[in-house]
Amino acid sequence: MAIAENPTQPTQTPDQKHLVLVGMMGSGKSKVGRLVSKASKRVFFDCDTLISDSYGMPIPDIFETKGEASFREIEHDVLKKVLASQQPAIISTGGGVVLRADNRELLSEVTVVWLRSNVKNLAKRLEHSYKKRPLLAGSKSKSELRATMSRILLEREPLYETVAHHKLKVDQMRLKAIVSEVAKLAS
Ligand code: S3P
Repeated sequence: MAIAENPTQPTQTPDQKHLVLVGMMGSGKSKVGRLVSKASKRVFFDCDTLISDSYGMPIPDIFETKGEASFREIEHDVLKKVLASQQPAIISTGGGVVLRADNRELLSEVTVVWLRSNVKNLAKRLEHSYKKRPLLAGSKSKSELRATMSRILLEREPLYETVAHHKLKVDQMRLKAIVSEVAKLAS
């Protein structure tokens, strides 16, 4: 995947900023991002995919072998690189991208859309895939999964609030409507 190697200043014009999706695990960032990229004919970058591709291992393995702090470093480098790409892109991020102040600073230069969802729906969507999320994989029951997600959401909600230029409450929305709303922001 072609990403500029020299992340200096973003080269987008003000009305052609990158559109970045943020939100909790399970909020649909990757799926929505891919569909919005098709609808808006913009290039798509999925930060988690780029991270695991460049390290040749899935994210849980990166967490296990290098630890979360190293993962956050890699995540920061990938974010910097995708934001430095020339063409205005659609970018989906990992749920924890907002944890670092330097990432939040980078996100202030682009258009950020927060896909907001409640814990009940997030946990439902992750019911069959939470084992692939290192921060959730230890949950032993549905109620433990929901409790862990509530704790993470409580910590992150103010951070998503800080970086988001647009919030979309996706709980009651169909995928098509979400894609259409987000695509409007990329036109
Ligand atoms: C994480 C979210 C994951 C992935 C990693 C850490 C987080 O991405 O980056 O497991 O801290 O919320 P998704 O939000 O795409 O699941």
